[in-house]
Amino acid sequence: MKTYLVTGGAGFIGSNFILYMLKKYKDAIKVINVDCLTYAGNLENLKEVEKLDNYKFLKIDICDKEAILEIFETYDIDYVIHFAAESHVDRSIRNPEVFVNTNVLGTLNLLNAAKIAWETDEGFKPGKKYIQVSTDEVYGALEGDEGYFYETTPLDPHSPYSASKTSADLLVKSYVDTYQFPANITRCSNNYGPYQFPEKLIPLVINNALKGEKLPVYGTGKNVRDWLYVEDHCKAIDLVTEKATVGEVYNIGGHNEKKNIEIVKIIIDTLLEMLPADDERRKHLSYDLITYVEDRKGHDFRYAIAPDKIKNDLGWEPETPFSKGIKLTIAWYLENMDWMERVTKGEYQKYYEMMYTTGK
Ligand code: NAD
Ligand code: DAU
Repeated sequence: MKTYLVTGGAGFIGSNFILYMLKKYKDAIKVINVDCLTYAGNLENLKEVEKLDNYKFLKIDICDKEAILEIFETYDIDYVIHFAAESHVDRSIRNPEVFVNTNVLGTLNLLNAAKIAWETDEGFKPGKKYIQVSTDEVYGALEGDEGYFYETTPLDPHSPYSASKTSADLLVKSYVDTYQFPANITRCSNNYGPYQFPEKLIPLVINNALKGEKLPVYGTGKNVRDWLYVEDHCKAIDLVTEKATVGEVYNIGGHNEKKNIEIVKIIIDTLLEMLPADDERRKHLSYDLITYVEDRKGHDFRYAIAPDKIKNDLGWEPETPFSKGIKLTIAWYLENMDWMERVTKGEYQKYYEMMYTTGK
């Protein structure tokens, strides 16, 4: 039985990954979820697995050296899947320090603990693997409509968030190059799906549209992102963990580039299609809610992934077309409005007011 140490498992992608893995492998695997529960961590996401004998949650900060070392002393960890991070670009522009602490120093701490636990006089114990869940933002931005990010594209991050993720990637690379540490790095494009915190474009627009509130579009709305349904990302990570050669880097993307303004309009159209004719929330639902606001500082123009390497080496391809994924996502939010209410209360409400009312 393989034991997975999943960091950041109470966040958006981490909780989707844990749910996916426990559904796929059932009790053939054990999952230890380490998360310190920042504003973005929500144990409610994991309700359906919390009582399983092969699932355990530990409320621990990945920067806490003693606590992380103790996990590796207590459990025979086979795989580390490292999601835990400060993940929101806008927050990094306001407060970079926490991004360096968690994303850079936290990663170093995990690498060290895994190295201590896994290294022997004869090299690393067989079957061990560390996965650094990284982002396409490490490549910077593509200008114009042409071209893709490849694994060979030079790293050129712009925001404090992407700079911290790039720094973490370079630390992982240094462990592979220096110690032959068994790791892979995955670099994925924008994810969407259930449990995404509504500070990110898609759930923010769904939430505001349902309340008849303004839909803030940064700058011209022409910036492009490459959207991937979160379960497809989880499948790719599972495959890289099981099959990829140590040291390889894989880009993961949806082949689904869309301008932000297109995304906002698709959400409005899909909501109008899905809501019953007599639903009160249809009343204010129109393109009139779209409000162009001040642009993000240093806003990367376009991201687009060429997932050729992961297709050729491991046979992974995005499975969920956007037209299907966005319906699944909207349906999930419509069924889980109470989840949305709870996560947008308190601290997030203060952040939202600061971002969109008092100006950035
Ligand atoms: P998220 O913000 O939804 O979740 C992050 C989780 O990490 C939260 O549960 C939070 O409590 C936890 N966490 C934060 N700091 C921690 C710390 N110091 N110790 C322990 N736990 C801590 O993020 P997400 O969108 O699920 O992203 C997960 C990972 O995937 C990140 O590394 C991110 O860079 C990467 N990624 C995200 C996307 C995307 O579109 N969301 C795309 C590519 C890569
Ligand atoms: O590309 C992968 C990255 O995708 C991940 O590494 C990050 O963790 C994740 O947050 C995401 O980053 P983005 O900055 O691309 O995502 P976000 O949802 O914040 O914004 C998507 C686009 O929409 C971006 O061009 C900014 C724009 N935007 C965003 C918000 C929140 C708006 O126009 N209005 C908004 O209110």
